[in-house]
Amino acid sequence: MSIMTNSPSLSDKLELPCGAILSNRIGKAAMTEGLADGHNTANERFVRLYQRWGEGGAGLLITGNVLVDRWHLERGGNLAIVGEQSNTSLAMLADIASAAKTHGSAIWMQLNHAGRQTQKMVNKHPKAPSDVGLKMGNGRFGKPTPLSKDEIDNTIEAFVHAARIAEQTGFDGVQIHAAHGYLVSQFLSPLSNQRNDVWGGSLENRAKFLLNIIQRTRKAVSPGFAVAVKLNSSDFQQGGFSQEDSARVANWLEDVGVDLIEVSGGNYEQPRMIDFNRKDPLAANKRQSTLKREAYFLDFVPLMRRSTKLPVMVTGGFRTVSAMKTALEEDGVDMIGLGRPMVLDPMVAGKILAGKIEKLISRDDDLIIGTGLMGPKSPISFLRDLNAWGALGWYYEHIYSLADGKKPDTNLSPFKALLAYDKTEGKAAKALIR
Ligand SMILES: Cc1cc2nc3c(=O)[nH]c(=O)nc-3n(C[C@H](O)[C@H](O)[C@H](O)COP(=O)(O)O)c2cc1C
Repeated sequence: MSIMTNSPSLSDKLELPCGAILSNRIGKAAMTEGLADGHNTANERFVRLYQRWGEGGAGLLITGNVLVDRWHLERGGNLAIVGEQSNTSLAMLADIASAAKTHGSAIWMQLNHAGRQTQKMVNKHPKAPSDVGLKMGNGRFGKPTPLSKDEIDNTIEAFVHAARIAEQTGFDGVQIHAAHGYLVSQFLSPLSNQRNDVWGGSLENRAKFLLNIIQRTRKAVSPGFAVAVKLNSSDFQQGGFSQEDSARVANWLEDVGVDLIEVSGGNYEQPRMIDFNRKDPLAANKRQSTLKREAYFLDFVPLMRRSTKLPVMVTGGFRTVSAMKTALEEDGVDMIGLGRPMVLDPMVAGKILAGKIEKLISRDDDLIIGTGLMGPKSPISFLRDLNAWGALGWYYEHIYSLADGKKPDTNLSPFKALLAYDKTEGKAAKALIR
């Protein structure tokens, strides 16, 4: 088994710039768990979930987003690390890390702040780079107020603090969530960052928030602790964060000691991270090359590859082993990221590595509640949102099953999942104690 070969295979190890070694090229992508209590602390259900994923044998497990600010959660049931942690909370985090690592996986904690993508049921008055509200959600999101300079500094420190706790409790690394329209991604985009101080304007200024988080985190943790970034290849919005911007940021990340960049894309206004609309007739304007390829962000990799030598993980749409092999052998990808397939079969990585399967279990296309006018590309925003929340809700239900030691019921109706989603999310937000 070689390390860093020119044309790696899925079972090859990967050595990261910090010196840490991942045992193979399959990574579980971050998926929000929604299992935390009203204090946003961990419990046994997280431990069981990561034990199951650990048994699967992926080289890397990335947790769902862990929030660094309890007023800016992505959802009520998020795990959050803010301020001093109780001994119980530290012990529970340590249990998650050790459950995940039992069979040789590395575990990284994904750190996030939702900014303007915080739902009203969590906080009616979120903070963001600028006072630009989301153009979606039908009243689910409040109009943000701009962060002051001190608040920006405190938020950077909150990321650093959470990274220190991650290391202290046995995690092997952190991944800063700079994608999907959350706070770091809001700073990067000229549409949501309209500041005219040092944090806004040029791409250099808009990237400062992310680069500061990385620089300060790198200094706060041990040299062998991985610091990674999930970055949008693009926001897919006119005048937004473009592929060229993303490639330039990737280049700067190399200078500040990043270990791996995970490529994704989109945000709540353009939910391309879960490309659930491939069968929708209104999606016909998509580039043919993207439609042909199951992993929908691969087209961006050549540009990324020209701008950075950092290890690159690509996530989104991988459903066959042959597509994964091609990505490693021909596209310069170093790690294959899997999200939804890991929910439908937590043992999927081991099966891939043992050559037991070619096609992964998938329910992507038929989770759409309607097509055309009713579909996810509908001009009627309420219907578009319904599809996005419905598809997510379906996976949320399955993550709960895994955490409870059950087998996911793949026949669950998407509509039922949507109803359950609304109920569970409302309950978790109401339960918040702050
Ligand atoms: C239920 C669910 C929860 C997710 N939560 C997160 C998250 O917390 N952080 C993140 O970066 N991406 C999140 N994602 C996006 C995934 O990491 C991944 O980018 C996306 O699902 C595409 O990969 P896939 O086609 O292999 O599922 C989530 C996706 C799903 C389906």
